[in-house]
Amino acid sequence: MPAEGGRSSAYHEVRDPVYPVSSALPRDRWVLTMTVPPTFEGLETPRLRLREMTDSDEDALARILTDPVAMVAYEGAFTREESRDWLRRQWQRYRDDGFGLWAVVLKETGHMIGQCGITRQRIEDREVIEVGYLFERAFWHRGYATEAALASRDWAFRTLPIDELYAKVRVTNAPSMNVAIRLGMTVRQTFTVLYRGHTMPHLAFAITREQWERRTG
Ligand SMILES: CC(C)(COP(=O)(O)OP(=O)(O)OC[C@H]1O[C@@H](n2cnc3c(N)ncnc32)[C@H](O)[C@@H]1OP(=O)(O)O)[C@@H](O)C(=O)NCCC(=O)NCCS
Repeated sequence: MPAEGGRSSAYHEVRDPVYPVSSALPRDRWVLTMTVPPTFEGLETPRLRLREMTDSDEDALARILTDPVAMVAYEGAFTREESRDWLRRQWQRYRDDGFGLWAVVLKETGHMIGQCGITRQRIEDREVIEVGYLFERAFWHRGYATEAALASRDWAFRTLPIDELYAKVRVTNAPSMNVAIRLGMTVRQTFTVLYRGHTMPHLAFAITREQWERRTG
């Protein structure tokens, strides 16, 4: 597919789909060029708390990222070292952008059950701002991912000067698509990512600011 600016965009090598690969894009393709990153003070929903991840979340994070079932969409489980790298990348995001994937904690028990939040992402040759969600398998099918993602979506539109919010979903990942749909998103395009040596067809889901305003009043 011909790309704007004449560059090939049929495939691009992405070492990690949640790291700011958009930083490799020229600045004129960035959606966000904030000089002062926003401050994240945590979020609260009826059942959950979202906060920045710390050192002490390493084991809880590894329970998600080293689980081969949870990581099917990422072409298999991460090693413990890859899981630690992931955590370091979120810290980098907090520093650079003021946001990233946050820890999702059950209010009732204080247990970290997942991660959810906002990241810079890349779709072909442009940057998008994405809501991402990955939960420990034992806590699926209880509405927690949707609850956390709704709060993250609302934070993004209230805090960031963005017109659209995206979710990049591998075409085989039906549960993730269902969360995107519950956020009020619809499919905008298909695209392909080359990740860990595999060609992965994806769908780009998105909701515009106007659609978000209509839904939230
Ligand atoms: C994507 C992912 C977070 C979705 O998890 P999920 O459990 O399907 O989503 P939710 O937590 O929102 O739960 C929704 C389900 O809980 C049910 N539910 C039960 N109690 C509920 C309640 N009190 N409130 C709302 N929903 C409830 C819903 O009916 C829905 O059922 P369904 O699974 O039959 O559709 C999960 O599959 C995951 O972590 N996957 C691995 C990582 C990944 O692929 N992430 C996405 C990358 S793009």
